[in-house]
Amino acid sequence: MSRVIDHPILGRMPEKRKVTICVDGRQVQAFEGEPIAAALIAAGIHICRFTTKRNEPRGLYCAIGQCTDCVMTVDGAPNIRTCITPVRNNLKVETQIGVGQWRDATCKKQTSQ
Ligand code: FES
Repeated sequence: MSRVIDHPILGRMPEKRKVTICVDGRQVQAFEGEPIAAALIAAGIHICRFTTKRNEPRGLYCAIGQCTDCVMTVDGAPNIRTCITPVRNNLKVETQIGVGQWRDATCKKQTSQ
C-alpha cells in the first residue's frame, strides 16, 4: 500500500481504522471513510471502468465527483462515483463495463492456483 502519510504542508495524516474491501474478487486494505478511488490507487489499481462504444479504460480524472470517469459497480449498484464514495468494511467493488448492470453484492475470495 503506497500512501502519503506525512505530507510536507498538511502534516501527519490522522490514524484511521483499517478495513478490507473486495475489488474484482481481490482483498484490498483500505482506511474507513477514505474515498474508494484513494484505496484503489494505493493498491495500484487505476482502471475503474471501460467505455461502452470503444471499450477504452477510464480511471480517476476530476476526483471531485463531476466527470463520472471513476464510476464502478459498488455493492451491486452500477455507476457509483468512487472518488466521492467513502470506504466501509467489506465493500464489494467491481470494474464496470459500459453502463454496467445490477449484480449480487456477495464477495467471493479469489483462490490461488
Ligand atoms: S473522477 Fe470524476 S467523478 Fe470521480
